[in-house]
Amino acid sequence: MSKFKLIVNGENIEVEASPEMPLLWVLRDKLKLKGTKYGCGIAQCGACTVHVDGVAVRSCVLPIEAVVGAVTTIEGLSGPSGLHPLQAAWIEQDVPQCGYCQAGQIMSAAALLMKNNQPTDTAIEEALSGNYCRCGTYIRIRKAVASAASFYSADSDDHGGPESAFEKGARS
Ligand code: FES
Ligand code: FES
Repeated sequence: MSKFKLIVNGENIEVEASPEMPLLWVLRDKLKLKGTKYGCGIAQCGACTVHVDGVAVRSCVLPIEAVVGAVTTIEGLSGPSGLHPLQAAWIEQDVPQCGYCQAGQIMSAAALLMKNNQPTDTAIEEALSGNYCRCGTYIRIRKAVASAASFYSADSDDHGGPESAFEKGARS
């Protein structure tokens, strides 16, 4: 066991864990952040997607010793003032069925919008192509991402960044 310092959802934390413990299990078992799901455990399904410095990563295969940067989970995606535009769009489009894959879908979509807040249908398709949904909610997911993108003005200079999803992107 070793001690690791992490920033998770804006908070500095210290956890004791085996260096090879995947970030997913640190989040779920050590920090009790259960929104991030275990699906395949081999980086294939996207259920465990979180952000490290704004980049979507598969936490099931990322050892805690290799985590460099601030971690954001679905619990930390919305800012203090309300829902992230994606979460509002998910509700508006009534996206989830069983819900199991949805946190990972939203985190992948959020990473996309931080890089490109006016994505084409193709860009949305590509960004989410590694996130699987056994309930087949793909059409509603794509509609919700497009709807969330419309929240950002087309001529905005703000193309986002880790902070914009965590704080500025929240809809009051
Ligand atoms: S649980 Fe990590 S990609 Fe499936
Ligand atoms: S909503 Fe059930 S797996 Fe996606």
